[in-house]
Amino acid sequence: MAFNKITAEEAAAMINHGDTLGLSGFTAPGTPKSITSALAAKAEKEHEAGREFKVNLFTGASTNQWTDGALSRANAINMRAPYQNTPDLRSRINSHDAHYFDRHLSELAQEIRYGFYPKIKYAIIEVADFDEEGNLVLGPGVGNAPTYAAMAEKIFIEHNAKLPKSIRGMHDIVVLQDPPYRREIPIYSPSDRIGSPVLKIDPKKVVGIVETDSYDTVKPFTEVDETSTKIGNNVVNFLLNELRVGRIPKNFLPLQSGVGNVANAVLYGLGENDEIPPFQMYTEVTQESVIELMMQGKCTFSSTSSITVSDQMEEKMFANMDFFRDKILMRPVEISNSPEIVRRLGVISMNTALEADIFGGVNSTHVLGTRMMNGIGGSGDFTRNAYISIFSCPSLTKGGSISNIVPMVAHADHSEHSVDVLITDQGIADLRGKDPVDRAKVIIENCAAPEYRELLWDYLKLSQKGGQTPHTLQAAFELHVAFNETGDMRNANFARYVK
Ligand code: COA
Repeated sequence: MAFNKITAEEAAAMINHGDTLGLSGFTAPGTPKSITSALAAKAEKEHEAGREFKVNLFTGASTNQWTDGALSRANAINMRAPYQNTPDLRSRINSHDAHYFDRHLSELAQEIRYGFYPKIKYAIIEVADFDEEGNLVLGPGVGNAPTYAAMAEKIFIEHNAKLPKSIRGMHDIVVLQDPPYRREIPIYSPSDRIGSPVLKIDPKKVVGIVETDSYDTVKPFTEVDETSTKIGNNVVNFLLNELRVGRIPKNFLPLQSGVGNVANAVLYGLGENDEIPPFQMYTEVTQESVIELMMQGKCTFSSTSSITVSDQMEEKMFANMDFFRDKILMRPVEISNSPEIVRRLGVISMNTALEADIFGGVNSTHVLGTRMMNGIGGSGDFTRNAYISIFSCPSLTKGGSISNIVPMVAHADHSEHSVDVLITDQGIADLRGKDPVDRAKVIIENCAAPEYRELLWDYLKLSQKGGQTPHTLQAAFELHVAFNETGDMRNANFARYVK
């Protein structure tokens, strides 16, 4: 059966106000590009004509400028999950124009299958190749594509001419059975393949194929700055010590790493250190630094849900797929981030906090406790189940007017029960085996910036009679309140709470 070739505008014309869409991809790679842009243009016209037009959007994680960017600017998103990172959508979320529910990435696919959310009308799947029996070779990002394709009433395919057919073989596609029939996921090493290289869909669901021709326009990372380098060095030193004392085995353990400058600094630091053996990743995003380490032989394998690299690197990789084919497997996010596998493999997780508190609680999502930044992403999937869970952040933000170490996090994403090690540019706080007061002492001394240490000691002294985790509730947000009222946390004053 031959699929209909249609334009993005024809596809957008079929999508109605209130429809629920499920998109392939994870970060920009693998995410559709043209139907969502055409849909944003349609939404603008509908709004100009005085008609409501919004869709519900389910993705793998963050998306691209043509999706979250364009649709948010057009105010065309009603419900959105599970993760985002664009300024336009962020402001729609914080003004309640878009109803965002921020889920652990590994959970969304099963929750869709369980029927917790609106039914998916259209799945939009980007492919590198396809046949008319419904075998799709996905692009460089999988996300929740298999579940969306299985659950959707109808499917649009975006065939991206930039993607090489030779990407075939780098995907491991599987959809889990749901309870009570689910079995163990038989992955015992990051490179174990359990599924199919292609996504098999029902060809009768395909409404049409849209041709596209575009890279993902992921920006190359800027030079790693001084603070990120210090944090990176501290993480490397921590891991080296664990290796030396034998808590990490000689052949190392798989790593998960968040994205961004700190993550890059850590990975480059690991790559440069001769004492660290070649290692594998079990992670959700494979970023530029990992690809470079692969080319140097330092990273030998990456299990992931996407390859998120700059266009220049994408072009280089696409010309050299034979080298990468046995070094990367892209999987649905419920497998790349599976708690079962993270726990089994002994993954070392390395994620970033916006702020952490003196007892080890972490806020990754809400700026000053209220404004959504991005979302929890996969950080919870990995942190809760890691062999060692590490969080890092700079000790200071906004020129020192904000301390990222505070008495109590203003929003809790990861509790002290899950956070093993906290690392800033100042140093390392190993929280394992420490009670709350001992954690507070090591976090204040090793991780807080010098200009905030006295304030944090003042808080701890003020609270010393306050139970196992000693807080003074009326003073716990004194630093945040001082920032909101005066623009600088250094104006906090705990003396006024002393009775
Ligand atoms: N209070 C207020 N603002 C803060 C802050 C704090 N404690 N810490 C940081 N900020 C501000 C920064 O100043 C910056 O503001 P700007 O956009 O005006 O410049 C912004 O928040 C982002 O901070 P930055 O240091 O640039 O963040 P980052 O790029 O290192 O990302 C997270 C940090 C936490 C936002 C990011 O890692 C994230 O979204 N994590 C959750 C998802 C995740 O962990 N996924 C893991 C698997 S990939």
